[in-house]
Amino acid sequence: MKNLLPLIALLFIAGCSGGDANSPSSTPTGVNTDSKDKPLVVFSQANSQDPWRKVFDATTKAEADKHASEFTYEAQDASGKTETQNNVIDTFVTKKPKVLLVSPNDTGVTKSIEKAFDAGIPVILLDRAIEGEKYTAWIGGDNKEIGRQAGQFIAEKLGGKGTVLMIQGIANATPTHDRRDGFKEVIAKFPGITIIDGDDCGYQRQKARSYMETFLQSGKAIDCVYAHNDEMAIGARLAWDANPKGKAPLFVGIDACQKEVVNMIKEGTMDATFQYPTPGAKGIEIAADILRGNMPKDKKIILPTVRVDKASADKYLTDNPNLSN
Ligand code: FRU
Repeated sequence: MKNLLPLIALLFIAGCSGGDANSPSSTPTGVNTDSKDKPLVVFSQANSQDPWRKVFDATTKAEADKHASEFTYEAQDASGKTETQNNVIDTFVTKKPKVLLVSPNDTGVTKSIEKAFDAGIPVILLDRAIEGEKYTAWIGGDNKEIGRQAGQFIAEKLGGKGTVLMIQGIANATPTHDRRDGFKEVIAKFPGITIIDGDDCGYQRQKARSYMETFLQSGKAIDCVYAHNDEMAIGARLAWDANPKGKAPLFVGIDACQKEVVNMIKEGTMDATFQYPTPGAKGIEIAADILRGNMPKDKKIILPTVRVDKASADKYLTDNPNLSN
């Protein structure tokens, strides 16, 4: 009994400190070292198929790896299906994560995100937004501003007159609205420019290529293609190259995450793109902060953009050595 006294005293002190001696979260730093008891941070990605999201997934994972001693990170791809994403989020909630990161496929995931938020889980939205205010923070680019800058660039290049075919992204995704509205706001100042509202091509190269093939068969003349992302701009360009009719129109996209696009700009087969920074690394930083007890101060965190055109393409490649192919 005498030999047990120091041990009893130690247990007593641990008990008085208010923590559970068996719980790793009671370690002095608040950092978890026991993997099975680490808090969980989850990420529901809309799709992991397109180039922008491949960069997005990789940078999110790389940042999460830096915090591997603090939390377990789990990500799930919904393959571009809103229903699948609702199920992924519902399943994630049953695992009681400490933070839920979501890059919504479209506003159709609002309900499942609200349920998670109402259950007390901090929700960080990445890129696309939802309806209403039931989330902790949103991180993404300023899509309206990108639309405006695209409008200004195109209006100048066209000398204030011509016809622009706007190939659109997913109809219920917020960047689509903003990229369209910002663009139209600027073009409204140029009465000589007409916009043709093109189809929703789902932000996908192949869909935009097929759409452009059909459009070109209609024989309507256009001076510019403004696509809501680079993949669709490339698809439209490929359709044009397969069936060119006179002088090529301008091609302008958004994302600037691929060497392919920057090289097309250098060759002159594309005219400009706008960087749309991926928000995952910032999302993980905020999740780590939340776990340390600091809720984000800003509800909206806006990431900057830059224009990439022929004059800036080389510098952009030097400044961004890790673009995807
Ligand atoms: C990828 C993507 C990007 C685009 C973003 C808009 O799925 O289409 O190309 O910038 O989503 O939400």
